[in-house]
Amino acid sequence: MTEYAIRFSKRQRFEHAIVMTTFVLLAVTGFPQKFFETGWARGIVSLIGGLDHLRFIHRVSGIVFSLFTMWHIGVAVILAAQRKMKLTLLPNRQDFKDAVQQLRYDLGLVESQPAFDRFDYRQKFEYWGLVLGGLVMIMTGLVLYFPMLVTRFLPGELIPASKVAHSNEGLMAFLVVITWHIYNAHLAPGIFPYDSSIFTGRISKKRLKHEHPLEYARLYGEPAHDEPAPPAPETPPTP
Ligand code: HEM
Repeated sequence: MTEYAIRFSKRQRFEHAIVMTTFVLLAVTGFPQKFFETGWARGIVSLIGGLDHLRFIHRVSGIVFSLFTMWHIGVAVILAAQRKMKLTLLPNRQDFKDAVQQLRYDLGLVESQPAFDRFDYRQKFEYWGLVLGGLVMIMTGLVLYFPMLVTRFLPGELIPASKVAHSNEGLMAFLVVITWHIYNAHLAPGIFPYDSSIFTGRISKKRLKHEHPLEYARLYGEPAHDEPAPPAPETPPTP
């Protein structure tokens, strides 16, 4: 029988579901505005019930996305300040060494792949890409939302500049998600066709040991043979 370890808390799974849903809604209602002259954009606009509906859904999803991003950052800062959360997503020197070793392994120059802890360098890169890219989308989205208010305090050039940044950063984020994130999380060899851990919160101990051996060793100690491992404690929340 497959044995499982807890990888994600309820809060983390809930946050992922919110980001996933709002991101899809934002992409579906944002890109038809960017590529308004195409047939598919017109198809989506009429399916949604017109441009006003589309813009309304985009703005509401944008507000939900912004509030959850602030909540996520706020909770992380408070828990970290209270030392109730391990900063397992913070990049460190080892991540750079791991990336180099992985590249050398892929080129056949070394025999072994790096051993990863709770999150590997690719997962950290994606996480920070989402947080920092999300902040750019929120700030430029708010400028487009409230142009009159913003230009009472700041120069008017900010409006077209924000539109270019919002539009292109949005496209880049979408391309990163559908290529890099979907590949790494679901389609990569060893994971295909689907990794359910972010939805169920559980990961098989076999996969944990293979993909995050340092975390596995910390949680269970390295069993010398096939001794039964002690039950997994729930890992402390991470951002
Ligand atoms: C994070 C994912 C997001 C994506 C992929 C995205 C995408 C887009 C795109 C492609 C456009 C059209 C730009 C153009 O005409 O070239 C747009 C417009 C806009 N976006 Fe976003 N966006 C995102 C988040 C947000 C957020 C967080 C907000 C609000 C805080 C927001 C508010 C707006 C506004 C106000 C417009 C102008 C259109 C209108 O007036 O309704 N967006 N977005």
